[in-house]
Amino acid sequence: MDTKKLQKIVVLGTGGTIAGTAARAEDLTGYTAGQLGVQLLLSGVPGLSETLQGDELVSEQVAQLDSKDMDHATWQALALRSAHWLGQSDVRAVVITHGTDTLEETAWFLQQVLHTDKPVVLTCAMRPATALAPDGPQNLRDALAVARDPRAVGVLAVCAGQIHTAQRVQKVHPYRLEAFSSGEFGPQGWIEQGQVRWAESPTRSAEQGHAHHALGVPSANWPWVAVLHSHAGVEARQIDAWVQAGLKGLVVAGTGNGTVHQGLMSALLAAQAQGVAVRLTTRCAEGALVGPVAAFQAAALGLNAYKARVSLLLELIAPGHH
Ligand code: SIN
Repeated sequence: MDTKKLQKIVVLGTGGTIAGTAARAEDLTGYTAGQLGVQLLLSGVPGLSETLQGDELVSEQVAQLDSKDMDHATWQALALRSAHWLGQSDVRAVVITHGTDTLEETAWFLQQVLHTDKPVVLTCAMRPATALAPDGPQNLRDALAVARDPRAVGVLAVCAGQIHTAQRVQKVHPYRLEAFSSGEFGPQGWIEQGQVRWAESPTRSAEQGHAHHALGVPSANWPWVAVLHSHAGVEARQIDAWVQAGLKGLVVAGTGNGTVHQGLMSALLAAQAQGVAVRLTTRCAEGALVGPVAAFQAAALGLNAYKARVSLLLELIAPGHH
C-alpha cells in the first residue's frame, strides 16, 4: 500500500455518549446519547490539522442512536458504508464514533465482515459532549492518530489513551473514563501526546473479513441468536419457549470453566437435537475455557458471550464460508 497517495480519513457517526447532551454541564449520567452530528463533533476537536498532517476528513452520519439500542439493520448499514469508503483508493482509514455500551459487539462484527487491510478505528466517550471536561474530543483525536499510523490494521477501539483489538476489547466499567479493557492481555497500544506506541504491532488476523458474505443477506433475514446465562435458580422453560418461537442459535455463558446448571442440560440438549446451534463460553470476566467442556461446542477464541453471539450469528447467516 502506497500510504503517500492515501489522503482521506472517513469518520462515520453512529451516536453514543460522545454525541450526547445534558441540560447541565455537571450532569454526567442524566443525559441523552446520540444528539449531535458527527460533523459538529469533529469541529469541536482542537488541533486537528496537526493530527491529520494534510489528510482530508470526510464525515457521514450513518445512525444516531444510544448503542444499547444497536440492531442488525444498523450494523449492516454501517458495514456497507465502511466497505464503500474502504474500497476507495484514496481513503486511508475509517473512524467510527459509537456508544460505549455495545462497542465491542460492533467492533467484532465489523472485524469479521470487512474484507480490508485498512484500519477501522472505533471511538467513543464516557461523558456527554456538554460535560465540563468531555472525553470525546481527546478520544476522537487519538482515534485519528491511530487511523493514520501505518502499522494500524484490522478493527481497533480507542478510548482513554488506549488501543484495543476487536477480539479482546470489553467494556468493564459503567462510569469511569477508562471503561475498556483487553483483560489479561493488556492494551494493544497507547496514544501519548498524539504519538502512537504499540505494545505489540497489530497483525492481520484470520477472522478479518471471513464472513463478508453475510453483508449480502438482508438483516431482516438474519437468524435469531440469543445469549443465556447459567446461574443459581435458572429456569429451563425459557429455552423451550425460545425454541418454539424460532430460535436458531444460542450462546450459553456457563459458570467457571464452562459448566452449566444441571437444570438446563436436558432442555439445551433437546434444543440442539432440534437443530439449534449451541455454543458455550464462560461468564467469567477474563480467560478462555480450558480443556474439554460439557456437551456443547466451545465458542472460538475465548470470546465473551456477546461476541460469541456475533460469531454464531455470522456462521448461521453464511454457512459453508467458515
Ligand atoms: C451508548 O452506548 O450509546 C451510551 C453510553 C455511552 O456511549 O457511554
